[in-house]
Amino acid sequence: TEPNSAIFIIFGGTGDLSRRKIFPALYNLFLENRLPEKLAIVGSGRSKLTDAKYRATLLDSVNEFSRRGKAKKEDWTTFASKITYQAANIKDVGEYKAFETRIKEYQDEWKEKPAIIYYCAVSPEFFCTIAENISSAKLENNEETTRIVIEKPFGSDLKSAQDLNHKLLTIFSEKQIYRIDHYLGKEVVQNIMAFRFANAIMEPLWNRNHIEHVQISVTEQIGVGSRGDYFEHAGILRDMIQNHLLQLLCIIAMEPPISFDADVVRDRKVEVLKAMRKILPGKIDAISARGQYGPGWVEGKKVPGYREEADVDPESNTETYAALKFYVDNWRWQGVPFYLRTGKRLFKTASLITIRFKEVPHNMFHSENENVPKQNRLVISIQPDMGILLQLESKIPGLEMRLNTVDMVFDYSGKTRSDAPEAYETLLLDIISGDQTLFMRADQVEAAWELIMPVLNSWENNKVRNFPNYPANSWGPENAEALIAQDGFHWFNLPENIKKE
Ligand code: BG6
Repeated sequence: TEPNSAIFIIFGGTGDLSRRKIFPALYNLFLENRLPEKLAIVGSGRSKLTDAKYRATLLDSVNEFSRRGKAKKEDWTTFASKITYQAANIKDVGEYKAFETRIKEYQDEWKEKPAIIYYCAVSPEFFCTIAENISSAKLENNEETTRIVIEKPFGSDLKSAQDLNHKLLTIFSEKQIYRIDHYLGKEVVQNIMAFRFANAIMEPLWNRNHIEHVQISVTEQIGVGSRGDYFEHAGILRDMIQNHLLQLLCIIAMEPPISFDADVVRDRKVEVLKAMRKILPGKIDAISARGQYGPGWVEGKKVPGYREEADVDPESNTETYAALKFYVDNWRWQGVPFYLRTGKRLFKTASLITIRFKEVPHNMFHSENENVPKQNRLVISIQPDMGILLQLESKIPGLEMRLNTVDMVFDYSGKTRSDAPEAYETLLLDIISGDQTLFMRADQVEAAWELIMPVLNSWENNKVRNFPNYPANSWGPENAEALIAQDGFHWFNLPENIKKE
């Protein structure tokens, strides 16, 4: 149920996230007629700006970042009339009075109680400060209608995540808190639930009896760019594995929920995290590989190595690549390895989940002409090409019985990523309508931290001697190949048949 009226207060309203994601997404929702009739968006930042100036910078952002291209004048004018700017120092509780005045004004004008959404699009050190100041300044905080949105990273280890949860939960209740993991809003990621639970032929195969192993791979061509300072303290384990990749794993491995109710779905995901085999401190090298990119060439341009990037220590020990092997110790998945890999400055940008099925129990295709059936693979391609592909064995037309691999492809009827809603469009709409299914609950975040803490500690305490260990534009470090090769497998890349972009 979507409320008739809503007020967004966006802390960090002039920041990168607001410009690239939040405002383009809000604008697209407006074009789709999905926003409440009565809507006020109050952007806040430190600089002094007039409303007109603020709207003008947002128009530039929307023109640059919206998947729908440049805004039309009439549309923009109507949308922009809902946006105002409020300069404020978020650390100073005295300055929150201004928000109270705004909220009151809209309430009086609309004569109803709107949903109020405090959006923390700021760096994580301010999450608590904002929550505390909302509370001390006695800004509206109604359990039913007020929400707070927290961006990532949620904590930097288990302890800090617990502290942050603890503080937030003294001010807001869990059902008011929307912790973002934007991967959950992606179109294809949402489709995994449909694919698994709306097809009677999938679930019977979806277990250790038929699945040999699972790979979750999120590779990126970009380097750390201007985020050196953040990344230097984070590393890719915190930046990507703790949240996005483990969430993908949960969706693949979860038991069927009885409904789409937010807590039912999230309960099933937490159970996966709780069932994951604990990583023993002495075993870390056997189940993990890390890397750091060196300089190289990307599309004819020379690119710096990680250690040469701005705000990065020239002797940095921070990993920009990580691969890990996990097991889920439960009835369904016992003995099935889940391999996760992610890294920056790799050869291709692609987010893929590959599920490889077991061999046929008996090979009756005699191998004179190497006629051995290959194992079936299900490939879920999240981005940039969206699609789901099943690789099957089939007879090559002709007089002999010979096999080759063919692809059954669902490619979203040729639709590309710009046709599908952006993750932030889905997530913002869910925030407005109060649906927490795609947001991280406190216990989910903590369970994910708990799982990776041994690796985090070990990597922090043991420096690597051979960093950088992969050149830009490669598939990553050799030890990541070795990690999976020790089990007789190799990393899969995107099959040609899904490629569109
Ligand atoms: C963010 C990470 O959460 O996700 C970035 O902080 C990463 O380092 C980004 O580049 C990837 O998101 P997407 O949607 O581009 O795959």
